[in-house]
Amino acid sequence: MPSVGESIPRTDAALKVTGAARFVDDIVIDGMWHGAIVGANVARGRVKSIELDRTFDWGHVVTADASDIPGKNCVAMIKDDLPLIVEKGIRHAGEAILLIAAPTRDLALEARRRVKVEYEELSPLLTIEDSKKARTKIFGNDNVVASCEIKKGDVDAALARADIVVEGTYETGLQEHTYIEPQGMIAEWKHGGSLSVVGSLQCPYYVSNAMSVLMDIPEERISVRQAEVGGAFGGKEDYPSILAGYCAVLSRKCGHPVKIVYDRDEDIRVTTKRHPSRVFHRTGVKKDGTLVAMDILFELDAGAYVTLTPVVLSRGALHSPGPYRCPNVRVRAAAYATNTPPNGAFRGFGAPQAIFPVEVHMDRVAEAARLSPLEFRKKNCLKKGDTTATGQRLTESVATLRVLDEAVKRSKFEKRAKELAKARGNVRRGVGLALFWHGAGFTGSGEAVLKGKASMRLEPEGRVAILTACTEMGQGAHTVLRQIAADYLGVDVDLVSLPTPDTAYVPNSGPTVASRTTMIMGTVLCKCAARIRAELFRFAAREFDIKPGKLGFRGQWLMDGKKQVVEARELIRSYVFRKGVYLITDEYEMPPGIKWDEKTYRGDAYPTYSWGCDVAEVEVDMDTFAVRVVKMWLAQDMGKAINPVLAAGQIEGGTVQALGWATMERVVSEAGIVKTDRLQTYIIPTVVDTPEMETILVEEPYSHGPMGAKGLGELPMDGPAPAIANAIYNAIGVRIDSLPITPEKIYEAMKCRQS
Ligand code: MOS
Repeated sequence: MPSVGESIPRTDAALKVTGAARFVDDIVIDGMWHGAIVGANVARGRVKSIELDRTFDWGHVVTADASDIPGKNCVAMIKDDLPLIVEKGIRHAGEAILLIAAPTRDLALEARRRVKVEYEELSPLLTIEDSKKARTKIFGNDNVVASCEIKKGDVDAALARADIVVEGTYETGLQEHTYIEPQGMIAEWKHGGSLSVVGSLQCPYYVSNAMSVLMDIPEERISVRQAEVGGAFGGKEDYPSILAGYCAVLSRKCGHPVKIVYDRDEDIRVTTKRHPSRVFHRTGVKKDGTLVAMDILFELDAGAYVTLTPVVLSRGALHSPGPYRCPNVRVRAAAYATNTPPNGAFRGFGAPQAIFPVEVHMDRVAEAARLSPLEFRKKNCLKKGDTTATGQRLTESVATLRVLDEAVKRSKFEKRAKELAKARGNVRRGVGLALFWHGAGFTGSGEAVLKGKASMRLEPEGRVAILTACTEMGQGAHTVLRQIAADYLGVDVDLVSLPTPDTAYVPNSGPTVASRTTMIMGTVLCKCAARIRAELFRFAAREFDIKPGKLGFRGQWLMDGKKQVVEARELIRSYVFRKGVYLITDEYEMPPGIKWDEKTYRGDAYPTYSWGCDVAEVEVDMDTFAVRVVKMWLAQDMGKAINPVLAAGQIEGGTVQALGWATMERVVSEAGIVKTDRLQTYIIPTVVDTPEMETILVEEPYSHGPMGAKGLGELPMDGPAPAIANAIYNAIGVRIDSLPITPEKIYEAMKCRQS
């Protein structure tokens, strides 16, 4: 039975619902110690002195500082500027000053309380504005961590000629990932200089690379294994390299495996978050509403170190013109250093910070041109054959009109928008719409450079194993990859296994990020499957003395035309018994004709795009200004829904996560120290806040994706914030241009309007 398109149960379901799944906190290694970090607790300054309490028995405790790092004191990512342990200046409050290990967690935490650090404090830069204006430079000579520019046509001339010009400035705030399982890691340094790491992580090879630099050993001597992961959302893309570093240095110093699992408060205080943004749009249209010019300033708050910011900025800049056709576009993008923990990867990776502004702004522009939100988008959205701001010609798989049509039809958007805007009374309702796109896979030449690899192996027990570094973190990747491989082979999905990644055994598939896993790894697995099949057919032809021409798998069987030859399981078993291990590796190749110029930002920014249209219906209480999202219609295109229930799960989960970012999540800090460091104060949506959702899976196939599939993981994060903001405007006639849209902000805006 083909399984693609079927909602088969997820691979990890039984383990998780029975409690048998082993998360890092469940893993105990003989002789294991526990680590704790003495954090800076000041956002900017210098360490004056570190004093260990003399009344405390330090005999059973080990401490480590930068001098205990055998390699470079640096957590390798894009740049080498992030130290594992502070040596000179403190640049954010989550930095490590001293590491501690002890035989028990209680003792490690007690020892941490007995360390007294004295600081010389300096005043921190905490916002984009601070960083741009400040005379003090905390990064390079201009506080600019990264920048890029996109240019198409002549924006200034087009703006001068435009009939209508509309401006707007938009802001978004920090967002904490709030994975259900906090960050956790175990590292074991072994005699003779090798290291094994197991933990809650997204990208095993990122950790492996970072450990190699830090511990000064080749990657061949490092194994990084994924434990079961309780959610990640990008938050376990970069930070696990830091936590693994702490554990590795401590393990080498104390001679025991060392585990650190953060409590929620520490996790919220020190780990990465979504980059805050400030975006300015100046847009020119003709009288009839045709877009002629988009001038965009896209700014991010990078935090204290480079980490992944240049890539987040780039994705944000590339998505900032939205899914629109416009002959003249200029995007100037820059990320500024501040004294907060480095901001990092978070589902959407810069795109949500780009889509919120452009989609609220396009509603404004539509209104100025006297078009409905729908008419404006139908007229201006990218269609097959159009070119993007980077000059990429979209030759296939463009679903803008389909997703618009589906969302609008199901929600009866136009009719409701008119009806609801007229309603008066104490509870106002409104509907809003957002059209959005998400580039699937790495930006630019990323996939061409990386050449993500996967292997397949015939197993002695009669199955085909997929060996990939792509991780399961709850999104369903391992189920979907098995479905693709099984269908391509022609066998039932239970004949395909996918062991948990361990860098000692799996090739470098690249990180599990960027909505790339289904599309990129799926493609590589199809190549692997073709080779495995051919090899098995050759073997069977010889073994059973038949012609390979009509051989094929069907379910559990190898078939010769309509005749059953042998059970697939039996065939694989006898292959391994007779010929030994069979393992093949293949890698991703960019589809032909894709070109990207990193210097000029011209060309094909992504292999392809996924498309979405969200409609939100909201209710605003005119006494309290509380917003309730009543219902959302989510029409999203992923090329092919390999597993429809999992696809809908991605869409619903991403939507609720975006709803939190849009309406309630606030990281409140004082002097650069996070105060909302627990789930009583950092409020995320619960089931009570979750609206009714109607998901509409749109399948506009991509010819170079496995069975037509494109990326889906991040797309759902992009649309809800602007759809909700536009719905609030429809309800109360006031626009809120900064996230989160709290009752306080609505109150302020209403006050201004009335006075
Ligand atoms: Mo990501 S935010 O590309 O894990």
